[in-house]
Amino acid sequence: MVIIRIIDLWKNYGEDGSGAPALCGTNLDIHKGEIIALFGKSGSGKSTLFNLIAGLDRPTKGRIEVEGRDLEDLGEKGRTLLRRTKLGFIFQFFNLLPTLTAFENVFLSLELADRSKPELALKALRDVGLEGKEQRFPNELSGGEQQRVAIARAIVKNPSIILADEPTGNLDTSTGNQILDLLTRSCRESGTTLMMATHSPLTCHYATRILRMVDGVITEETSCEEISH
Ligand SMILES: Nc1ncnc2c1ncn2[C@@H]1O[C@H](COP(=O)(O)OP(=O)(O)OP(=O)(O)O)[C@@H](O)[C@H]1O
Ligand SMILES: [Mg+2]
Repeated sequence: MVIIRIIDLWKNYGEDGSGAPALCGTNLDIHKGEIIALFGKSGSGKSTLFNLIAGLDRPTKGRIEVEGRDLEDLGEKGRTLLRRTKLGFIFQFFNLLPTLTAFENVFLSLELADRSKPELALKALRDVGLEGKEQRFPNELSGGEQQRVAIARAIVKNPSIILADEPTGNLDTSTGNQILDLLTRSCRESGTTLMMATHSPLTCHYATRILRMVDGVITEETSCEEISH
């Protein structure tokens, strides 16, 4: 089943449409349950693509369908609802709310999805190995632990899709491997489709499909061998 379909997608940030486009008419079908590693040089358009899939920004031209629905047809309200209920996000700098505890960060994600069940937040924190640290604030957690909270926050609402933009970009190799193992295992178990944008060749070994963004166009890679920056 195709869960994300990208059709002739263009993004030009210039106000008047001038300047080099960040996405140049790219196409892609992503199937349910795929675990994708998206490589590409800095500035090649990876984060731009994620923002468009999340409906946080709109394409200059072309279409994105999520579970068969055109994001443009959903309107602003529909896109917000989709983001809250169907999508999970993980970022390089964790993006936890600093004034909320680990538990509250995860619980907020449930509240926004209209599923305010504290026991689900506690279970998600247990699943990522943070039992006993629920009441800590982000600045009382290590980078790896903060990323675990971010994973718990994404998986707790059982989303169809998780978009992870450089999830290990700010972690050492060993912590990065633990995080990739945890994240990909959790997605495999729940059938969640995972898209990771990354510079780290490690990620390759956890993926079922490897893509590369070159000048705003996505290309397929056949093996991990070619990923050597
Ligand atoms: N909000 C913005 N306004 C104007 N230009 C932007 C904006 N966001 C990104 N760009 C430009 O679009 C292009 C693609 O940027 P993008 O952030 O998608 O790259 P990336 O592949 O995620 O890079 P990195 O690996 O460094 O994160 C770059 O030329 C960038 O300067
Ligand atoms: Mg980026």
